[in-house]
Amino acid sequence: MALEYQLQLGSFIRQQNCPTEVGTLTPAAKVRLHANATSFVDSSARRLYSLLFQSNKIMAKQSYTIVALPGDGIGPEVLSAALRVLDLAGELFQIDFQVESIPCGGHYYAEHEIEWPDGSFEKCAAADAILLGAVGHEIDGKTVFTKPGKPYPDPQLAGFAQVIANRQKLDLYANVRPVKLYAGVKHKIHGELKQVWEPGKVDYIVIRENTEDAYTGETNQIEGGRVTPIRITRRATERVVRYAFNLARRRAKQLKVTCVDKSNIIGAHRFFREVFREIGQSEFPEIRLDYAYVDAFCQWQIRNPEWYDVVVGPNLVGDIVSDNGATTAGGLGLAVGGNIGDEHAMFEPIHGSAPKHAGKDKASPLAAILSVQMMLDWLGNRHEDERLLKSAQAVETAVEALLSEGKTLTYDLIGEEKASRCSAVGLAVEEKLRRLG
Ligand code: IPM
Ligand code: MG
Repeated sequence: MALEYQLQLGSFIRQQNCPTEVGTLTPAAKVRLHANATSFVDSSARRLYSLLFQSNKIMAKQSYTIVALPGDGIGPEVLSAALRVLDLAGELFQIDFQVESIPCGGHYYAEHEIEWPDGSFEKCAAADAILLGAVGHEIDGKTVFTKPGKPYPDPQLAGFAQVIANRQKLDLYANVRPVKLYAGVKHKIHGELKQVWEPGKVDYIVIRENTEDAYTGETNQIEGGRVTPIRITRRATERVVRYAFNLARRRAKQLKVTCVDKSNIIGAHRFFREVFREIGQSEFPEIRLDYAYVDAFCQWQIRNPEWYDVVVGPNLVGDIVSDNGATTAGGLGLAVGGNIGDEHAMFEPIHGSAPKHAGKDKASPLAAILSVQMMLDWLGNRHEDERLLKSAQAVETAVEALLSEGKTLTYDLIGEEKASRCSAVGLAVEEKLRRLG
């Protein structure tokens, strides 16, 4: 089926006069083209894709290999709760997961002067999916950076290998960050928990370009200062905006994609916007193109989140607006991201390592648990494995049930007095999941 589908698509593209891409196909490139070119396929073929993900289809497996990267700060504790949920999902839906946990991040660097043991990247590349906790370690209140030449020419955030290099080297070009308010979730405003935004009116997805913009890792000395470049290429922009347009098409909600950038000032962002317009107009005629400068967008996404359906932007812009959007969806403790490529994917809570909460069993494990949910969904679609898709649905339903019940939650969602521990919230999700399984 998958092969037939590719051939069909190949011949369709040939008819559409795209000989350069088709002419140079290697098996891997064919697969990439197959994933990027969903706008060309007919609606029956398109039905093979899930609502959220477009990815290559490969066979269901006996066993799925998962690399877990707990990292720094609260990363290990939230990931530990999430891995228990994964384990339970495997038991309930009869899926075998082989999980290997690799020590890594800034604390590992501080001890070993490398960010993880040799061979770890290769393990990530060989895994069916990666789960990341968080990176960013502090010593005496200062963030740990790598030393010059060890291993990068310029200092980087210690943990760069796990987050930024994995995104780049595994070509995880679309960072998919849903901004979705679940029923029962309150908003922490002025230190009080109130219902400010309404569920149903906060439901859009930020697609963050994930391989370039200000994240090249380069910083150059100039007289009296430093310069960090902003790089935007046609290749990276085309594939991420196509991802966003295809997602809007599959969601079939507002059929609208908003391009958020700082193109009034940054020339490279102007190029991003031009490519967005060109691809949108030529390949997605039924999708409405919408534009916003990031500064104004930050206000609108707070005041009128219902305006948005799919939002796409350069890397740094996507980083900022996904955190800002999280405010309307219950905060960073619930915010989740999938780093998606054609061949690999890595899932993570987007809250970071929060060193001040580390080791206190206090932080919300729900974002990490929802990362597991997103990973199960992605794997289920990629492998056309119903067990995985059902388990993803069950994990989301379990989290939704816990949120709407509003009893066993961490401090950020229920206040310090009534707060449950991170581990207790994880166990409560497990209990709900058991009832559903
Ligand atoms: C994120 C984080 C990372 C980023 C940090 C930890 C480097 O903020 O995933 O959003 O900026 O991409
Ligand atoms: Mg961020």
